[in-house]
Amino acid sequence: MRDASDFLAATRDFYDAIAEDYAEHLADHLTHRPLDRALLRGFAEMVGEGTVADLGCGTGAATAYLGSLGVDVFGLDLSASMLAIARRRHPDLRFEQGSMLDLAIADASLAGAVSWYSSIHTPAAELPALFAEFHRVLRPGGHLLVAFQVGEEPRRHDRPWGRPVVLDFQRRRPERIAALLGDAGFALGSTTVREPDEQLGEAVPQAVLYARKPGASAGPAGA
Ligand SMILES: C[S@@+](CC[C@H](N)C(=O)[O-])C[C@H]1O[C@@H](n2cnc3c(N)ncnc32)[C@H](O)[C@@H]1O
Repeated sequence: MRDASDFLAATRDFYDAIAEDYAEHLADHLTHRPLDRALLRGFAEMVGEGTVADLGCGTGAATAYLGSLGVDVFGLDLSASMLAIARRRHPDLRFEQGSMLDLAIADASLAGAVSWYSSIHTPAAELPALFAEFHRVLRPGGHLLVAFQVGEEPRRHDRPWGRPVVLDFQRRRPERIAALLGDAGFALGSTTVREPDEQLGEAVPQAVLYARKPGASAGPAGA
């Protein structure tokens, strides 16, 4: 039996097992979620120039959407099988394997980072380290977007699509994530919570937090 420190292996094994099912059923999730696309578009506009990392990119939905907006973006994920599909679907984009808790990315080198439903498998005790790593790789003024399901209790996915794997999907309170981002040195820019779209299979509200690493601003002066 695995202990809690094996969460990275458990996450990788889960997504390796379901990658083709995920691609068939969920890879186009942004197509059906105009408000999610709007937030990613606003993020792209605020980032402007510079490289963005889609951390926990899966099959590359957000990577491809940001790329289509002209963002210099690459994807990173734990799962080789998810990455194989991302590369197959988006051969013009760069995808790398790795853990977002231990990024092979230089300090202060990224203009932006996105964690689109990818922090949901990181145990609560590891979230400070995760957000510290996001903070480390972003340049001063860098932009961060974090999406996740809202709630208190995790949802266990047991044998999805008949595959012999199980994994907990954590749900979190936006104010708790906002506090942790603040502890990591980020300045919160916005919290967006939308109601679940039951037709899309969503059971709980969905949150997207936008934050910035304090420092130089490349944006236009405010009115
Ligand atoms: C729910 S999927 C979301 C995928 C993608 N962001 C999307 O919107 O379709 C979660 C993804 O996060 C990845 N992931 C989870 N923890 C990770 C970590 N520590 N480092 C890199 N990837 C991770 C998983 O392998 C999986 O592909």
